[in-house]
Amino acid sequence: MTNNRIIKVEGFQLMDSRSNPTVGARVTLSDGSVGFAIAPSGASTGEFEAHEKRDGDNGKYCGKGVLSAVEGINNEIATELIKLNTLNQRKIDEHLIKLDGTANKSRLGANAILAVSLAVAKAAAASYNLPLYRYLGGISGVKLPRPMMNILNGGAHASNNIDIQEFMIIPVNSCCFSESLRKCSEIYHTLGKLLKEQGKATGVGDEGGFAPDLGSDEEAIELIVEAINKAGYTTDEIKIGLDVASSEWYKNGEYLLPKRNKKMTAEELIKYYEMLIEKYPIISIEDGVAEEDWNGWRELTKVLGDKLQLVGDDLFVTNTARLKKGIAESAGNAILIKPNQIGTLTETLDVIELAKEAGYSVVVSHRSGESEDTTIADLAVAVNAGQIKTGAPCRTDRVAKYNRLLVIESEI
Ligand code: PGA
Ligand code: ZN
Repeated sequence: MTNNRIIKVEGFQLMDSRSNPTVGARVTLSDGSVGFAIAPSGASTGEFEAHEKRDGDNGKYCGKGVLSAVEGINNEIATELIKLNTLNQRKIDEHLIKLDGTANKSRLGANAILAVSLAVAKAAAASYNLPLYRYLGGISGVKLPRPMMNILNGGAHASNNIDIQEFMIIPVNSCCFSESLRKCSEIYHTLGKLLKEQGKATGVGDEGGFAPDLGSDEEAIELIVEAINKAGYTTDEIKIGLDVASSEWYKNGEYLLPKRNKKMTAEELIKYYEMLIEKYPIISIEDGVAEEDWNGWRELTKVLGDKLQLVGDDLFVTNTARLKKGIAESAGNAILIKPNQIGTLTETLDVIELAKEAGYSVVVSHRSGESEDTTIADLAVAVNAGQIKTGAPCRTDRVAKYNRLLVIESEI
């Protein structure tokens, strides 16, 4: 093991769940161990995320090719990592950041850097003969996350008329992950039946949740509550979470809900949430106000922070500097963790550590564009995140993460 080192780093242009190209990386060690990882990709991306490098050649894949990012892996990155002669993840990630040389990883691309960073960790885990969650979390990574399962899609993830991006169900008193998953799956099926009975569309959005046209956000929540009850559960055991993804609506200090063509101020949005949480069993709201609206975030947290989880996704973008600012400003009380928002594994682990120190809760998350890569399942267990967002129990890109968690549960 001591002489084990990286001997090969290869990049691949692969396909994501939205039929867009994405970056894969394979790292081979001198002892024959191999790590392979695929970068995901967002649709409602935060402005402050690390840069996703795309070719911009409109003749191919509508400009979304990633051949230049792959070339960076095969040449510069491969040369650097082979020369480095270490499996120390922190050192490797530091070198990748330095090699890129920009503040937001725009030269080599966060998609290329993340795929390599994760592939290195997987190769090292394989070389120690450890599952990834054990390699990353040691003996303390033991907690299976509670699913926050997005079963009704709107916003940028669906072509329906709903402005709120995600309506999630959250089982709160299950004995274990597999029981939570079963309850969510039953509710998902029941919701599908309900929609069918009412003559509504049962096609799904990017994260596998249903995406019908509905009269209002409240109608979506009411349908979900009905599905919870019809599936044989109560709202004491199954709660609701929303990802408003309101940065998508924010222009010139105002919120314009594009599908309903409605204007709202941050104050009006906060009042709206207050009304919703009075009426419905909502325990978590993500990106309730926009990534640049620090006043809105302070107010939102002042008004609702001790009543429910307020998750910063676009606000924090898995970035230690942004989270530090959020902590100082009392903005939110939870962070969404998406490794490709920041671009390396160790930076992801560092921001999780900071969140925990500050008493922020942690939700590990997929992106709307995904693949068969299941790293986030292992990551959630390794860091005892407690919560995971990885879509509906439908479409293999989402189900792969749930299946990985079922296997981890049986091992633990
Ligand atoms: P995205 O959506 O991957 O399209 O950014 C997920 C989210 O907003 O949580
Ligand atoms: Zn979000």
